[in-house]
Amino acid sequence: MFDSNLVSDAERATVAARPPQLPRSGPFAGKVAIVTGSESGIGRETARALCESGAAVVLNGRNAERLEHTRQDLATAGHTVATCVADVTDYAACERLVQTALDHFGQVDILITNASISMRAYFADMAPEVFRQVLDSNVYGTVYPLKAALPHLVRTRGSVTFISSISALNGMPSGSAYCAGKAAVANLAHTLRLELVDTGIHFGVVHIGFTQNDPEKRVLDAQGQPVPIAHRPPRWQKSQTEVAAIIVRHVRKRRQRTVISALGRLIVLVHTYLPRLGDWVVLSTIRRMRNFYE
Ligand SMILES: NC(=O)c1ccc[n+]([C@@H]2O[C@H](COP(=O)([O-])OP(=O)(O)OC[C@H]3O[C@@H](n4cnc5c(N)ncnc54)[C@H](OP(=O)(O)O)[C@@H]3O)[C@@H](O)[C@H]2O)c1
Repeated sequence: MFDSNLVSDAERATVAARPPQLPRSGPFAGKVAIVTGSESGIGRETARALCESGAAVVLNGRNAERLEHTRQDLATAGHTVATCVADVTDYAACERLVQTALDHFGQVDILITNASISMRAYFADMAPEVFRQVLDSNVYGTVYPLKAALPHLVRTRGSVTFISSISALNGMPSGSAYCAGKAAVANLAHTLRLELVDTGIHFGVVHIGFTQNDPEKRVLDAQGQPVPIAHRPPRWQKSQTEVAAIIVRHVRKRRQRTVISALGRLIVLVHTYLPRLGDWVVLSTIRRMRNFYE
């Protein structure tokens, strides 16, 4: 229940020597999950849903205050949680994140790579460093936690879910680096499923569609300044709780791919079978609904 940054080696040894106190009821009883980027938004609600299904969860984010607030919220509800402030684009920080799970609970069964930075900027205007920051958070923010957790997931024949987006299934103007990153992780999951088939680890991807956001959510503009997310029609949005429940079901059923929402499934169909029509729809919405992109 503490930030692993603040733990001395002696304290860590004491925690490790204690038998893990894992919840005993629910479909994930006895399981330990790490959810990256879980101090807020969909990650926080996914952590809550996993806890409600019996898992012990390591929460993560870069903002110590917000992370502690989320920890208190879940711990007060009686859930078994620990926290680790870690930037998932930093490999050493990801090793600390995984070590936090081992120190507190002795194992890692489930990894959900949810941390991500999004954007609203056209490619031609974007500072190259901003492109890199968005891409890194989505790609290395997925690769590094997995690299650090992999030996432990092999031991438990665990489950890995990459959080992607329906925008990985097609292109989305003003989202170049984000869409490229989300498409990369979907492809990575496929490769790893084949390459690591003998480990018995589940590799899955969830393509999330438009979801309600925390009011504080910010994305990067072309110069890397945090700005509110672009307008999304409320009727197109699922709640974070609904999305979290779908993610948890995906993990429980060890699905390869889950595309959330009817709109997401329609996008898959149109871009697979009628790609020109898909592009026409996007190009005409750019003209008629500029605030959707900008
Ligand atoms: N909301 C939607 O409509 C939607 C649609 C499709 C896909 N998704 C995907 O769903 C996931 C969650 O989205 P959300 O809407 O809940 O976004 P969010 O509210 O911005 O949450 C993202 C979380 O990731 C953390 N984070 C970002 N970069 C990090 C890093 N380098 N290291 C550690 N933590 C980091 C953020 O905290 P700090 O910034 O404080 O670190 C925050 O807690 C993302 O992968 C997103 O791409 C969302």
